[in-house]
Amino acid sequence: MEVGIDKISFYVPKRYVDMTDLAEARGVDPNKFHIGLGQDQMAVTTADEDIVTLGANAATQILTDEDKATIDLVIVGTESSLDESKATAVVLHDLLEIQPFARAYEIKEACYGATAALMLAKRHVLANPERKALVIASDIARYGLNSAGEPTQGAGAVAILVTANPRILALENDSVPLTQNIYDFWRPTGEEFPRVDGKLSNQTYIDSFAKVWEEYKKRTGLNFDDFTALTFHSPYTKMGKKALLPLSDNAHLLEEFEKAIVYNRRVGNLYTGSLYLSLISLLENSTDLVAGNRLGLFSYGSGTVAEFFSAKLVEGFEKNLQTEYHRHLLDARQRLSISEYEKIFNSKGLGQAGVKFSLREVLDGIPFYNKN
Ligand code: COA
Repeated sequence: MEVGIDKISFYVPKRYVDMTDLAEARGVDPNKFHIGLGQDQMAVTTADEDIVTLGANAATQILTDEDKATIDLVIVGTESSLDESKATAVVLHDLLEIQPFARAYEIKEACYGATAALMLAKRHVLANPERKALVIASDIARYGLNSAGEPTQGAGAVAILVTANPRILALENDSVPLTQNIYDFWRPTGEEFPRVDGKLSNQTYIDSFAKVWEEYKKRTGLNFDDFTALTFHSPYTKMGKKALLPLSDNAHLLEEFEKAIVYNRRVGNLYTGSLYLSLISLLENSTDLVAGNRLGLFSYGSGTVAEFFSAKLVEGFEKNLQTEYHRHLLDARQRLSISEYEKIFNSKGLGQAGVKFSLREVLDGIPFYNKN
């Protein structure tokens, strides 16, 4: 029996900053951001948006009443949690009106959290093929004004419905995880911004990819030519390419890589959701994909846990994508000036929507596209 991704969607804040504007304000050559980091726009949350509203919007786009009656596992991967104790997944379970006899909890391991959730969801459905599991990755990436990490901020959520006989991607049983205790990026309890050694995090990411790929090759006998495309965790879009190029210059993989970063270039870092935004970008922007193609996914969370795994496209996958909705979502956003962005960034209300408003207001206050 195959288990995997039946539906997948993302949601991003309603406002963004253009990276040329940010570069000019910071006295930096815009090419450093556009070419050096591979980022064109950066999502910015306002006081009415947080990981709950972002996650609820992402999931609402894909869930039917039948899904809500069948889901019995809801896992949220996040490193922007609103509460040290109560899981965001419990709030989202309520907001999304999922049937009560379900498990709901939150997972943390930096940007790897959603992958841990996906692996658990897969096992859950393998053991209970008639049930469904909902994985939500939701984060707000904030490094601080004028910090080295500022151009790699962003925000957004991805919702993934995991089922038996999935209609988009069947997950293979080949994943290779890797855990290493390294302080490249971490955020001690109570601190607003992460402590980050940017160069070390880049290097650890690159080394981790090389290590899991080498082990994957050894275990499966597969090589890069066996993949139609690879998708990467994308704190900024050049990161994946920096990990791939020392190991392969496969022209087709590099061509597909560009399709897998179309959306990420316009949003910035989603932390846990980044890899899955890249996957959606590939699925919705590549014109070469066909059923049976093998895709590789590289997940990386600072601290660190990395994992490489693969999935195969299933017949008719293109009919289950949300391409039109996602393009509209990105195009309909409002561009902020740098002074507006700085004012919003410093405002107290940021990131508190889930606790500031009642649950009903959180959903009703958001103008859902296609909401019915
Ligand atoms: N035109 C084109 N490229 C330019 C440029 C210009 N005018 N100026 C600089 N660049 C390139 C640099 O050559 C470099 O490319 P390379 O990495 O391929 O060598 C890239 O832009 C970034 O420049 P760099 O000087 O390394 O940037 P930085 O010191 O300001 O920091 C990060 C970059 C990513 C380390 C920083 O943004 C950060 O700490 N981010 C948060 C942590 C993170 O995202 N880690 C990733 C792993 S999870």
